[in-house]
Amino acid sequence: MIENNSNNNTNSNNNTNTNNTNTNNTNTNSNTNNDNNTNKFKGKLFGIGVGPGDTELLTLKAVRILNDVDVICAPRASEKQDSTALNIIKPILKERRKDLTIFDPVFPMLEDESLLNSYWNDATSLIISKLDEGLDVAFITLGDPSIYSTFSYIQKKIQKNQEYYEIEMVPGITSFTSCAASINKPLVEKDEVLSIVPKIQDNFNGFIDNSDTIVLMKLSRNKEKINEIKKDIDDLNGNIFTIKNSSKKNEEIINDFSFDKTYFMTSIVKLNKKINED
Ligand SMILES: C[S@@+](CC[C@H](N)C(=O)[O-])C[C@H]1O[C@@H](n2cnc3c(N)ncnc32)[C@H](O)[C@@H]1O
Repeated sequence: MIENNSNNNTNSNNNTNTNNTNTNNTNTNSNTNNDNNTNKFKGKLFGIGVGPGDTELLTLKAVRILNDVDVICAPRASEKQDSTALNIIKPILKERRKDLTIFDPVFPMLEDESLLNSYWNDATSLIISKLDEGLDVAFITLGDPSIYSTFSYIQKKIQKNQEYYEIEMVPGITSFTSCAASINKPLVEKDEVLSIVPKIQDNFNGFIDNSDTIVLMKLSRNKEKINEIKKDIDDLNGNIFTIKNSSKKNEEIINDFSFDKTYFMTSIVKLNKKINED
């Protein structure tokens, strides 16, 4: 399941760690609250948000750490697909001067929790084996690692491990702030309330009642429900924007919901309850 990638500057051997003897000085700015437990012989895990797609939207901190770690773990959705997060960071890896191991475990989009768990366990074991070798590992994730990210599963598993491992999260520009930039509009102003909804479900009307702006990451296949919601939005004089591939070359904006199968697609519903658009 796990593969090694290599480019001119990468080391395709999982077990090789040449030229990197002192691996614990990668980052001196630790945000952990348990430094007393830090094992100096173990590597550190970074959960790095790589932003919505445009390499220029990587943070300086992400670039610095990605240029310094020994191992990068780049999840991908299937055996047939490259890691999108890896494609975002590839241009900056050209600046690296150190050997690098990349592995790209598959994290399939499945509903079956126990099957998913087995993929997360495999990736966690591999990451732990690298940390035990004293190697610093960057787990890269789209947008921000605190927003519906695969990193959170790995993070929880490693935190539950009986051994202590130092972990640092590095925030990234999240997809929905990128989408707001795409449509050139603020998400919320003054005392407006923003809701982030992973999927339209039956309780969606509650979000319409209690929010001024709704970020919607996935629609539903339930067209009847969508039509009902569109009517409620219309009644409030609201606007719907759907942004596909925000910040990428193939970015597209639609003034409605979209039912196509684009994965990198977010809808922003602005309900215009309080602020006049004049
Ligand atoms: C599993 S969530 C990951 C969210 C990510 N951690 C973040 O902070 O944006 C995946 C969802 O993010 C949204 N998304 C990610 N990248 C996007 C992009 N470039 N344009 C539009 N939506 C995007 C889509 O709604 C997609 O279904």
